Amino acid sequence: MRLAGFDYRRDALYCEEVALEHIAARAGTPCYVYSSRGILESFSAYDQGLAGLPHRVCYAVKANSSLAVLALLDRAGAGFDIVSGGELFRVLAAGAEASRVVFSGVGKTAPEIEYALDSGICCFNAESEAELGLIDALAARRSLRPRVGLRVNPDVDAATHPYISTGLRQHKFGIALRDAEAIFQRAAQWPHLSLEGVSCHIGSQLLTAAPLEEALDHLLDLAARVPAVRFLDLGGGVGVPYQPEQQAPDVTAFLTRVRERLAGHDLFFFIEPGRSIVAEAGVLLTRVLYRKNSVAKEFVVVDAAMNDLIRPSLYEAHHEILPVRRPARGKILADVVGPVCETGDFLALDREMDNVLPGDLLAVATAGAYCFVAASNYNSRPRPPEILVEGLAWRTIRARESYPDLIRGEQV
Ligand code: LLP
Repeated sequence: MRLAGFDYRRDALYCEEVALEHIAARAGTPCYVYSSRGILESFSAYDQGLAGLPHRVCYAVKANSSLAVLALLDRAGAGFDIVSGGELFRVLAAGAEASRVVFSGVGKTAPEIEYALDSGICCFNAESEAELGLIDALAARRSLRPRVGLRVNPDVDAATHPYISTGLRQHKFGIALRDAEAIFQRAAQWPHLSLEGVSCHIGSQLLTAAPLEEALDHLLDLAARVPAVRFLDLGGGVGVPYQPEQQAPDVTAFLTRVRERLAGHDLFFFIEPGRSIVAEAGVLLTRVLYRKNSVAKEFVVVDAAMNDLIRPSLYEAHHEILPVRRPARGKILADVVGPVCETGDFLALDREMDNVLPGDLLAVATAGAYCFVAASNYNSRPRPPEILVEGLAWRTIRARESYPDLIRGEQV
């Protein structure tokens, strides 16, 4: 595990220059806290790592789509990878330019394609011939000729959780590599689009970069055979360490190898990292409500639940749980559970952790990516607020939901 923008000062956990105890006292718990410095440092590892190569780092909006986070990355020069009309709306609402947006996704609808065409996005990554046909038809009506890349499925094993592995032939994503060349040969069939790139995304949370490099080699092979190919898009970035001893690929070393492979090719390069930009720069703050033990187990009941942070329940994901103030009361072995009425509602199982008491604050680490975005109102729980820290300053970038928010749009 690594924290980006958080550290202990004496025995208290800080985000940049602000004590998390202070934020919890003002904003309440549960709440998400993000470090702008942590986010910007991770982004610049990608951007600097590709210096010298014509490139754009398109942040994968799905990882954390808060407007303030998008605006921060926009100011740093990021592009954006979107997978829905809603994500495009967010990117534009954050003040970013559509011309830096790449639209990925296996099931784009006609209204979403129209919205993207009318906004003037940079390119589409199309995933089937039927989608090429639809983009072509909708572009024709507007006398447009959008840039399109073909998402191929390189049949490379990303060696990650099966739910987030996407680059094997049995997965729904992309077009089989062997069919791609023929599609480029038939490109004249779609005169209202310019088919000029190849993309892939083999999966998320990759703890070695080798499969990404193997996928890149497949894209390069295809580009060598198809002169129309002017850009490559490698999809998401590398994974991050969630566990204490876990190692993740070094972004700079990985991108050095990418640059070596691309040297001498006249190709524009896109990469769409999400997790590795924001995950380590976020925590979920939660307060201990109760201690409880059954015959078999010790429980720490906290005020955050699976609706706030579903990764442990959904992927059996491990998130480190840190005391916001280090107590010196020794260690316990416990399940950290929330108030939701499901046995699957846990943040940690059989965890050796500090001997916390009711009222103590905990920080669930590595919670900047795929956490708030997947939060729900299950059990009619209002979603927590999001807070962004910048040095000494912190502000609420999304308010805690209220009870009236829970029933907005409903009728008796
Ligand atoms: N590009 C495309 C087309 C994607 O589908 C994804 C992630 C990314 C880029 C960003 O990949 P990253 O750099 O974050 O690895 N909810 C899951 C993760 C789902 C990832 C889906 N696609 C989790 O909590 O682990």
